[in-house]
Amino acid sequence: MNEASLRSHLNLEAERAIDIVQVFDEIDSTNSEALRQIRSGDGANRLIVANSQSAGRGRRGREWLSPQNGVYFSLTRRFDLDADALQGLSLVTAISIVEALHGLGVSGLQVKWPNDVLHKKKKLAGILLELQPNAAAQYVVFGVGVNCELSAEAVSRIDRPVTDLKTLMGALPASDLLLATLLNRLCQNMGNYELNGFSPFENTWNNLDCYRMSDIVIQNGESRLIGKSLGVDATGALLLQSASGIQAISSGEVFPSLRPLSDETNKP
Ligand code: BTN
Repeated sequence: MNEASLRSHLNLEAERAIDIVQVFDEIDSTNSEALRQIRSGDGANRLIVANSQSAGRGRRGREWLSPQNGVYFSLTRRFDLDADALQGLSLVTAISIVEALHGLGVSGLQVKWPNDVLHKKKKLAGILLELQPNAAAQYVVFGVGVNCELSAEAVSRIDRPVTDLKTLMGALPASDLLLATLLNRLCQNMGNYELNGFSPFENTWNNLDCYRMSDIVIQNGESRLIGKSLGVDATGALLLQSASGIQAISSGEVFPSLRPLSDETNKP
């Protein structure tokens, strides 16, 4: 991967959205590096890419196993929006990954709220969005990891069903083309989101959501909510139908419900 070959594949929106590109063979975490840069006062929209990460971070403090030859990147972008309005961005990022990979011939991808990309309920890609204000503005770090080629040993170290692009595509595309395709769609969708919010993406999400109209459990810290997923609303909140009515949920982790709803009561 080098900057010139990457830039040769970028569309105008992505080219404009990325001031600086930094490519590492290995780094602790591209998100951690992006946050360090912002905290040091750097205001550039920066793309940080690594071939592997020694301390890749996932959501909820989990590790993101990042062996060599995966796609691991963080894109920094300044936003003049409220932190609340940024919620839908993580869903838009997941949609962008699905659309980009679809353009490369990968079919059958789905999403899981708020931002997992799955194939047959096995995780292919994860997204970690982190907000960091600095003196000048509010910055969002878009961290994206796509499993490209996981060894059997790596799969055995991950505590949930996973898949990789090699399995789905047979042969992997060149890494600069793959990364540019992801960035092109992400930057295009981010521009749309900045202008129009989440509502243009609501139907797309609901058509891709693998748990919509299924019984689910939403875990948020100690709290567990049980109900049927009705998909998302125009802000990206998850609509959960339970005995007590329909609630719009803005954070938590979704699991399939293993028991019929009538056996459970919601615990606050
Ligand atoms: C998750 O599904 O838990 C989110 C995983 C996000 C992983 C990416 S890889 C690039 C960036 N750097 C990190 O340390 N994490 C994100």
